[in-house]
This record gives sequence, structure tokens and C-alpha cells, in this order.
Amino acid sequence: MASVEIQNVRKAYGDFETIKGVSVDVPDGAFVVLVGPSGCGKSTLLRMIAGLEEITGGTIRIGGRVINDVEPKNRDIAMVFQNYALYPHMTIAENMGFSLRLAKKSKEEIASRVADAARILGLTDYLQRYPKQLSGGQRQRVAMGRAIVRNPKVFLFDEPLSNLDAKLRVQMRAELKDIHARIRTTTVYVTHDQIEAMTMADRIVVMRDGIVEQVGAPLELYDKPANTFVASFIGSPSMNFLSTKVSQDRTSVATENGIKLPLGSEASAAPGTAVIYGIRPEHLTIAASGEGIPVTVTNIEPTGSETFVQGVVDGQKISAQLRERLFIKTGDVLNLTLVPANGHLFDAATGVRL
Ligand SMILES: Nc1ncnc2c1ncn2[C@@H]1O[C@H](COP(=O)(O)OP(=O)(O)OP(=O)(O)O)[C@@H](O)[C@H]1O
Ligand SMILES: [Mg+2]
Repeated sequence: MASVEIQNVRKAYGDFETIKGVSVDVPDGAFVVLVGPSGCGKSTLLRMIAGLEEITGGTIRIGGRVINDVEPKNRDIAMVFQNYALYPHMTIAENMGFSLRLAKKSKEEIASRVADAARILGLTDYLQRYPKQLSGGQRQRVAMGRAIVRNPKVFLFDEPLSNLDAKLRVQMRAELKDIHARIRTTTVYVTHDQIEAMTMADRIVVMRDGIVEQVGAPLELYDKPANTFVASFIGSPSMNFLSTKVSQDRTSVATENGIKLPLGSEASAAPGTAVIYGIRPEHLTIAASGEGIPVTVTNIEPTGSETFVQGVVDGQKISAQLRERLFIKTGDVLNLTLVPANGHLFDAATGVRL
């Protein structure tokens, strides 16, 4: 096992800089997830760790050794891609052992390493089958097995579950986490799915446009997002943002027409400052009569276990995820309330947390 240290790494394609100085520390044995919207540079960063892309600037270390100019095959990493094509004419055992055969390992060693990986992955009974005789999830496990048999210092995953259907993805997510808990190989995992990131990571790196917006434990990012980008990216459904101004005594903010939102602690911004007030849909509840903020309902989505309500408060959109069944219709006014400590304040101009 080994740590991965990424220091001020840059990547340019011609004049266009895709990665604009990224630093990330992946401690030995950690499971770090890179997350961010399409095109933000996740795969590029992962491919630079793997050695499949050259680095324009900065340093990458694996286990303390600078590997900028080390050949991919000498980096002691194993990568699993989204498109993990298996060789159709080889059995599962042959697929899993292929890289070891290329590395000229002995038959006995290959057989024993494949057997070990198959045991970890629950594939022992499938080793003599061919890929087409396996389910999607089993094939995904074979792709994992190809990485595990190499016993690398670091696993690199690029959206390995995105080809699977929703149910299988949830199941494989748990399996991957379980495998990591057992073998503890340092892992860098790329996804654009924030739920996958939240549930699997020890530490999440949120990227946007080639920079790191925030690094932290999943619940740290959820509780204290550094800016409106992270706040809207982490958590589903997304956080509500309302344009407001800080009150005279700084204990609340108010919308243009005076809908008051109490704060958990005094605002650091001066009275009258324009700020963005953030509140997550799951932190709104039905108010006692005569209390709360009046929301005119524009859409209602019952899921059975909860009701997702969209509406408008003082001309601004807001959504609420309510844990009860509601007998309301669009156009109704619903009074919603919130715990002041669950509110977030951001600078109106920069989006930075206040
Ligand atoms: N070979 C290349 N030449 C020029 N530009 C490239 C090349 N590869 C990637 N890019 C650009 O670099 C940026 C980052 O791409 P990258 O594949 O790393 O994004 P990503 O975060 O993995 O996105 P996705 O979630 O869609 O996979 C994109 O704007 C992309 O167009
Ligand atoms: Mg990608």
C-alpha cells in the first residue's frame, strides 16, 4: 500500500488548461472520491496518476516517490474503467489472470492469485465460465478481479459502475466498499454521482473546471459547504438558495418583501448586506398554523415514503422534501418552518460561505 500525493498538478492541451493547479493528498489505505460535473477534469487527473497522460506541471508521488516520469507499468497501480471490456473468448479465470501471464508469472502463482481474488469477489464458482455467461454485476466484479490479482499499491477507478442499472449500482457500491474494508488498498475513485461519492468515500474532492473547490469528509461537505457550488452539488435534492439581506440585529435575513428567516448564529456580514441564504429541502418541515414562511405550491411529487414539494416564496423558487403524505394541490399556500441552525449563508457576489 502507499499514499498518493498530488501537488499543484497542471495539464494543458495546447493553449487550453484543463487542470489548473490541483493538490490532493490521498493517505495510505484511504478511499478518496473525485467528484464534479462532466468535463471538470476528473478522468484527466486520474489518467495522470496512472501515467496515461503526461503532466504539464506539478508533482505526483506514490508511496513518497515522484512518479511524473515513471512508465505506467512501473507505477504499481491498477485501473478499472467504465468500459471494462473483458476478452470474450477467455474464461473468467483467464481474463483475471491475463496481466499476470503477460508479466510471465508462473502458472501456479497465477492460479493462486486468481483463486484469492475470486474468493474476495465471490466469483469462485464462475471461474470456468465465459463473460457472456455472467450478469452485468458479475462481469463488473471480474473487471475488479483483474485489478486485484495484480496486488497493486493503488487502485484507480473511473466511473466503474456507470454501465450498471440503478439497483445493481447500489449493490456494487456496497460490495466495493466492503472489499476496500477488507484489503485496504489505497483507492482513488472517480464519479459524477454525488450519492456514490457520499456513501463510499473517506474523503471527497469536489472539482469544477480544473480546480478543487473543497476537500473533506462526506458529512463535512454536507454540513459546511465552502461555497454555493459545493452546496448545490453535494446533497440531493439540491440546496435551496434565496436572495436576502441581513437584518439590523444580524440575527436573521429577509427576502425583498420581508419574509424573515432566522439564523442559528449572528451573521458575520453587516446589516443590509445582500447574502444568499441556503436551506436544504430535507430541512424544511410543515409549520404550526400561523407560523413559518408561506410557500405557494407549484408542483407536488409523492414518492410514497415522502412528498417532494416545489413552490415559490416571495417570488423565489424553493423546494421541500417532507416526510409525510400531504393532501394539497398546486396553488395552495403551505407554511414551512426550519431550524435556524440548518441555514447557510453565502456571499451574494462570490458564493463563498460566510
Ligand atoms: N485529449 C484531449 N485533448 C483536448 N482536450 C481534452 C482531451 N481530453 C480531455 N480534454 C478536455 O479536458 C476537460 C476535462 O476532461 P475529463 O475527461 O477529464 O473530464 P471528466 O471530469 O472526466 O468528465 P466526465 O464526467 O464527462 O467523464 C474537458 O473539457 C475535455 O474536453
Ligand atoms: Mg471522465
